[in-house]
Amino acid sequence: MRKPLISGNWKMHLNHFEAMKLIQEMSYKITGDDVDVVDVSVHPPFTDLRTVQTVIDSDKLPFFLGAQHCHYEEKGAFTGEIAPSMLAKLNVTYVITGHSERREVFGETDEMVNLKTKAILATGMTPIVCVGETLQERDAGDAEAKIGSQVQAALTGLSAEQVGSLVIAYEPIWAIGTGRTASAEDAQAMCHHVRAGVQGIYGDEAAQSVRIQYGGSVKPANARELLTQPDIDGALVGGASLDADDFSRIVQYRLAD
Ligand code: 13P
Repeated sequence: MRKPLISGNWKMHLNHFEAMKLIQEMSYKITGDDVDVVDVSVHPPFTDLRTVQTVIDSDKLPFFLGAQHCHYEEKGAFTGEIAPSMLAKLNVTYVITGHSERREVFGETDEMVNLKTKAILATGMTPIVCVGETLQERDAGDAEAKIGSQVQAALTGLSAEQVGSLVIAYEPIWAIGTGRTASAEDAQAMCHHVRAGVQGIYGDEAAQSVRIQYGGSVKPANARELLTQPDIDGALVGGASLDADDFSRIVQYRLAD
């Protein structure tokens, strides 16, 4: 049974004081019963990581620490970048790679996503590999081909066992921060397509254990419908993760009426 993973991607929001406040508010609302059935990760900006790690560790909060990005090299002359081992040292468990904002705004290529995915795994952390199509690609009927090729490129050279340990996030670009969500049927169909792609290359076991998140305007009102689909194993949440109440209601999707 795949345990769902619900991840809050805080993007470039919240300084370390604000981050501390949010993680504390989350801890009042998300209970042990919730995390028995759902894994929860938070992905603050780099400058907040140490603060959030300290709160999680000292208060023994049931949240996994995540990061939004890293470089694929271990050290060197890469001004402004962060190495995977620096994140691992902060008890980071999950690292997002290939987010559409990094692909579009910062020129992250499929090849870089693949190198990052390998580097994150090599440091003992779990990549959350993001894939997604633009509205143009969707309208042209190219969504499945785009997602298939992004998945294949990101996972090139990994073993079936490594692929089975991953998280893949299907995030249609037209649904990110727009308030437009893929319908539950569409999201399910695309996540199923991702799983079928994994199965075709890496076999049944990898396909059954890889966790596939949906991301793109996930809110308390649509979480249950999305998260109860058979091939959707969690959510990568942007805007709604900045509000402790909204995020905890998403984590508690199974309790919604
Ligand atoms: P929104 O939930 O704000 O649409 O963001 C989704 C996302 O990009 C998460 O990584």
